[in-house]
Formats: sequence, structure tokens, C-alpha cells
Amino acid sequence: MHTKQCDVADRSQRETLYEWALKEYPNLNVLVNNAGIQKEIDFKKGTEELFVDGDEIELNFQAPVHLSALFTPHLMKQPEAAIVQVTSGLAFNPLAVYPVYCATKAALHSFSLTLRHQLRDTSVEVIEMAPPMVDTGLNQKSRDKQGLTYRGISSEEYVQYFLDGLKEGKQEITNERVEGLRDATRADYDRLFEQMNTQEN
Ligand SMILES: NC(=O)c1ccc[n+]([C@@H]2O[C@H](COP(=O)([O-])OP(=O)(O)OC[C@H]3O[C@@H](n4cnc5c(N)ncnc54)[C@H](OP(=O)(O)O)[C@@H]3O)[C@@H](O)[C@H]2O)c1
Repeated sequence: MHTKQCDVADRSQRETLYEWALKEYPNLNVLVNNAGIQKEIDFKKGTEELFVDGDEIELNFQAPVHLSALFTPHLMKQPEAAIVQVTSGLAFNPLAVYPVYCATKAALHSFSLTLRHQLRDTSVEVIEMAPPMVDTGLNQKSRDKQGLTYRGISSEEYVQYFLDGLKEGKQEITNERVEGLRDATRADYDRLFEQMNTQEN
């Protein structure tokens, strides 16, 4: 594995990454937009928490949109290619303590649908990875604060689910729990929102 450090929240670093990647790997055929942060934001405090510890809109949404635009013309020249967008189950039903995070993932889900449609006659597949809660380094501060004992499924379990989904030719890969959310009716969504966002959180 070869790596290059890049702050993908920085537009000029994204451009440098793109130029480096194509120079080093002219046959590159997959872009995975994985980087993301998740923050608790209380809008009753105004802008106090909005930009502390990173800008979720820039990193979770602007970066994958820009990188997709940069790489698409190159990917279209490859016989087989893919763009993987990492969204979340929270794209379908938001948790109010993470208001901007959930909105960026819903936006990236929407963008995945339209990008897939635009690229339907090309060699580029657009695959959406929408994990449930997975036990990773994501926002441990908030998970500790909420006293969550359940930290989600393991990365290995989700990766296996994702690989199985790829083999089956799925373009949107979640897990059983999120699939339930994805297929919910409007009434189910309202009920789930009430369940997920109680008076306590
Ligand atoms: N864990 C979950 O429950 C869950 C559920 C649904 C969706 N997701 C999504 O899955 C993706 C991966 O998250 P994770 O769970 O693996 O969390 P994680 O362990 O916190 O990993 C986040 C990754 O994003 C990278 N990153 C953060 N800011 C960056 C920046 N400015 N530039 C470049 N890279 C940056 C981090 O790199 P460094 O290590 O170098 O900082 C790290 O590799 C995210 O998009 C997240 O929203 C996670």
C-alpha cells in the first residue's frame, strides 16, 4: 500500500492529491471517499460549536463532490472503474445531536443517486456504502459522553457485509438494520425519528 497524506478539507490539497495520484498511478480506477468527522452541535449556542474541530460540510460533503468531479473524466477512460461514497444509515433518519453530520450524509446520498444516473452509460459505477453504527474511532468523545455501552458492529463484520454486497452487484450497501430504514414509509420515519430523538438527547 502506498500513501500520501492529504487534508481533504482543503481544496488545494485535493487538487494536489489528484495530480499526484494520476502521475503515480495512470491506470487508477477506484476513488473511495471515506474521510469523515461527526460532531455534536447545539444550535442554541449559535455558531460556538459550528467550526470547532473541523467543518463537516467541507469534509463530509464538499470534499467528495469535488474529488468526484476531479477524478470522473479520468475514471471514464478506464475499462472498469468505480467511485465509492461513504454515507451512513443516518442519511436516512437523522439523530438531532449530530445535525450537520446527518445533513451532509443525506446530501451525499442524494449526490450518489444523481452521479450514478449521470454516469450510467460510462464504465464508472457509483457505489454507496451506508454503514450502520460501527465500532471505530469515529466521535469517541460523544459516544463516551452519552455513556453508550453498545458501540456498533465491528469493522470486520461490516467489511464482510460490504464485500458480500459488492459480489451480489448491489450499488447501495448498508446492512439489514439500515435496509429497514431505507425502505421505511413516511409514517415509519416519523415514528423512528421520535424513537431516536428523545426528550433526553
Ligand atoms: N463508525 C460509524 O459508526 C460510521 C457509521 C456510518 C458511517 N461512517 C462513516 O465512515 C467513514 C469512516 O469513518 P470511521 O468510522 O472509520 O471513523 P474514524 O475511525 O474516525 O476514521 C475517519 C477517517 O477520516 C480521516 N479524516 C478525518 N479528517 C480528515 C481530513 N481532513 N483529511 C483527510 N482524512 C481525514 C481520518 O484520518 P486520520 O486517521 O489520519 O485522522 C480517518 O482515516 C466516515 O465517512 C464516517 O462518517 C461511520
